[in-house]
Amino acid sequence: MSGHGAPIDELRERLRGAGSICVLTGAGMSAESGIATFRDALTGLWSRFDPAQLASEEGFRADPALVWGWYAARRDGVRRAAPNAGHVALGAFARRHPGRLTVVSQNVDDLHQRAGNAGTIRLHGDILEDRWLEACKRRPACDTLTATPGTPPRCAECGNFVRPGVVWFGEMLPAGALEAADAAAERCDVMLVVGTSGAVWPAAGLAGRARRGGAHVVIVNPQPSEIDDEAHTVLRGTAAQLLPALLDGL
Ligand code: OAD
Repeated sequence: MSGHGAPIDELRERLRGAGSICVLTGAGMSAESGIATFRDALTGLWSRFDPAQLASEEGFRADPALVWGWYAARRDGVRRAAPNAGHVALGAFARRHPGRLTVVSQNVDDLHQRAGNAGTIRLHGDILEDRWLEACKRRPACDTLTATPGTPPRCAECGNFVRPGVVWFGEMLPAGALEAADAAAERCDVMLVVGTSGAVWPAAGLAGRARRGGAHVVIVNPQPSEIDDEAHTVLRGTAAQLLPALLDGL
């Protein structure tokens, strides 16, 4: 196939020859599915809401109803959203080439999974998952499914709150996720960095790790990011435009 323009055609050849491809995604990946990003100046969630209040354990403890309600609205948005052409291109490539493409996502939605990338490594958790705020001390442990509905739901036995299964500021990444992401970054021949501002670590460090491991690093973002210097190629455009252009037909 030809006619995409020089950088795209050259990248398609690289991707065709790559034994291992790693795709690091951020909120911009889901923007064209109608899910707001965090740091875009006008539309980003952190331009309208306070992350300390809504994305920290202290904020949840200070006002559980407010924080639960905010996540409930975001959960509804995720359930209503559908994968966009970028997610679909990644899922279709993975189906055509089993084992060659690893998606590492900072996103808490499930759009990669629904598009066919079932093995997506989720660095920041899953917004649709319920967890206990405190580790349950009972044996066997209480199941969040048995929580009494409310805002937020609570354990009828001990009062423990249910919270969303996302990583809040100051919290550890899910066990094993960063190790798996590091390994994917180190072994890949090409890394596509799609729709992330590169402002949040350790996720942002994966591009540099891939580069030091010898990968060709490509950024896909309509705006500058904090990790553009790590890239060999910067493509200014959106995920839904550029991922099909890069991957379809390979
Ligand atoms: P940000 O909101 O920081 O950055 C979104 C990026 O997507 C920006 O660089 C935009 O230019 C770009 N973008 C916007 N629309 C796009 C499109 N259609 N196609 C491609 N790119 C587009 O989001 P993240 O980098 O994901 O943390 O933020 C990192 C973390 O900070 C998130 O995972 C979240 C947040 O606090 C947790 O949930 C723990």
